[in-house]
Amino acid sequence: MRIIVVVGARPNFIKVAPLMPALAAHGIAADIVHTGQHYDSAMSDVFFDDLELPQPRWFLGVGSGTHATQTATAMVKLEELLGVELPDAVLVVGDVNSTLAGALAAVKLHIPVVHLEAGLRSREFAMPEEVNRLVTDQLSALLLTPVREADENLIKEGIDPARIRFVGNIMAESLLRSLPRIEARSACARYGLEAGRYVLATVHRPENTDHPERLSEIASALRSSPLPVLFPVHPRTRPRLAEHGLLSSTHGVVLADPVGYLDMLSLERDAAAIVTDSGGIQEESCMLHTPCVTVRRSTERRVTIEVGANRLVGAWRDKILGALEEALSSSREWPVPESWDDSVSVRVAQALASGIDPLPGV
Ligand code: UD1
Ligand code: UDP
Repeated sequence: MRIIVVVGARPNFIKVAPLMPALAAHGIAADIVHTGQHYDSAMSDVFFDDLELPQPRWFLGVGSGTHATQTATAMVKLEELLGVELPDAVLVVGDVNSTLAGALAAVKLHIPVVHLEAGLRSREFAMPEEVNRLVTDQLSALLLTPVREADENLIKEGIDPARIRFVGNIMAESLLRSLPRIEARSACARYGLEAGRYVLATVHRPENTDHPERLSEIASALRSSPLPVLFPVHPRTRPRLAEHGLLSSTHGVVLADPVGYLDMLSLERDAAAIVTDSGGIQEESCMLHTPCVTVRRSTERRVTIEVGANRLVGAWRDKILGALEEALSSSREWPVPESWDDSVSVRVAQALASGIDPLPGV
């Protein structure tokens, strides 16, 4: 069997890292195509180094743009590539525009789509990721889910249960495999911070960055944090913060460039608490037993709340500060969700090796 794995954005690189050796061990030849949705060295190259990920065989150079421009450009370039390569399947991960582009380009060439991290739902259609998830799942021949709730979501949407396999959370496996490599790492010291004595923050969702009133509430909460805040800033967010004069390092908040994966895990592990709107960081904080405050209206990672690792607050200063106080004094003991372990990649490889039923009529 020969498959092509589509990646494009930061969380994609992390999700495919453990897969590549597992696929090879199961006799599945896999090549990576990088759409180029993320292209800065700190948003892309660093992950290939940190995760020892094989270099992409193809780089499509799609870059930034509106949703339609970015998705359509990726589709055109992927269609051209897939039409020549004609792999047995295309594997897409997560919920970014490159995921949707890969699924659309493949399905119309009658190439089966495999979606890893299928079935997550925020039920919020203003989120571009929710649209990407819904469409990708409907087009997929094999749907690999990270939590049991995802299976239920898919069945409710009419997906044939025979196409769904619960494999667990691949982000958890990446993290577990990287833990030995961060044992001696103390990334916080580089920012003059002490383990257990700072809050780590990330913000990049358009619902926060593109609404000055929400960004301002979050910034105000971070400025009033009882502990110093380290904020590695996503390239989408930096110009928005500057435009509205919202934060500077003088406000007790250290603004940093995005960091590599191993540094990020070290920072998450050593933080007293995390304030974020990231999907992946909600999961990692759960794995690392660092309490998390999620500054969003909804989350598709509900399991992290159910186990007691995460609390969901909107972008309201007082609510964020209340949740942060509670998080800082809360227990760091909670159960890790089912199958968030180091064998997810093996279950993915087994699911692929056992064959993929084409969609009806294909
Ligand atoms: C994308 C995903 C989001 C994911 C995030 C991970 C979609 C719709 N969104 O959001 O789900 O959580 O990646 O980080 O796919 N930029 C740079 N350098 C880069 C990449 C981006 O400067 O290497 C800037 C550009 O100004 C660009 C903006 O960031 O316009 C947004 O990038 P884009 O890929 O469109 O979306 P993200 O916000 O990164
Ligand atoms: N991450 C990183 N450096 C950073 C910020 C995030 O390595 O400066 C990692 C983080 O540890 C997680 C992933 O990027 O593994 C999450 O990506 P992001 O928050 O960009 O996207 P989302 O998960 O929300 O789609």
